[in-house]
Amino acid sequence: MMQPPRIAPSILAADFAHLADDVAKVEAHVDLLHLDVMDGHFVPNISLGVPVIASLRKATSLFFDCHLMMTNPDVYFEPFRKAGADLVTVHLEAYPDPTGAATKARDNGLAFGLGINPLTPFEAVEPFLDLVDLLLIMSVEPGFGGQAFIDASLRKIEAARKAIDSRGLAADIEIDGGITTGNAREARDAGADIFVAGSSVFRAEDPELAVRTLKAILE
Ligand code: DX5
Ligand code: ZN
Repeated sequence: MMQPPRIAPSILAADFAHLADDVAKVEAHVDLLHLDVMDGHFVPNISLGVPVIASLRKATSLFFDCHLMMTNPDVYFEPFRKAGADLVTVHLEAYPDPTGAATKARDNGLAFGLGINPLTPFEAVEPFLDLVDLLLIMSVEPGFGGQAFIDASLRKIEAARKAIDSRGLAADIEIDGGITTGNAREARDAGADIFVAGSSVFRAEDPELAVRTLKAILE
């Protein structure tokens, strides 16, 4: 059943020389912070790791939603938890059988999410929905912010919403990539609970106004 809409600003689009300042601009209006960890293997980009998470942890009490675009994320669950991560999302494309990773995340005191890329059908992740606290549906190819929203993602959100509700599961549906004031309402109507927004927030003239506008559209 749908949860209240929540915005998760993605710091990938923030100013890495002033991360805490950028987070401070929006934190009063959001519940989660989306931290994109990229290892340069699973995706052709390298972003941030444990030291950045640990530093940001001291600067905000927001829930840390860590999106691990990595080939071997479970190796780092413990350091991520110690640094202050609250939830880790691993990709089904990296772990076709995520059962062990789910157990390991929880053993490390972490909530657990599964992510699927645009070309991965919803059916591939359906058997694992009971394992997750969060299903992350990529609406752009992973690796970079600032890309255009892939409209086909809306069908995937609908399929996920139907499956989660029909089975009475508690997983949140998170949509990640290219979210703007122009498509957030559609994504919410399709059944999404959490909206990752990087460029549309941190590249805006006024990030606080941007996040408040997005929030008003979703409520
Ligand atoms: C892309 C990341 C996304 C991205 C979102 O691989 O997973 O979280 O930072 O940024 P925007 O909102 O700019 O698409
Ligand atoms: Zn992400």
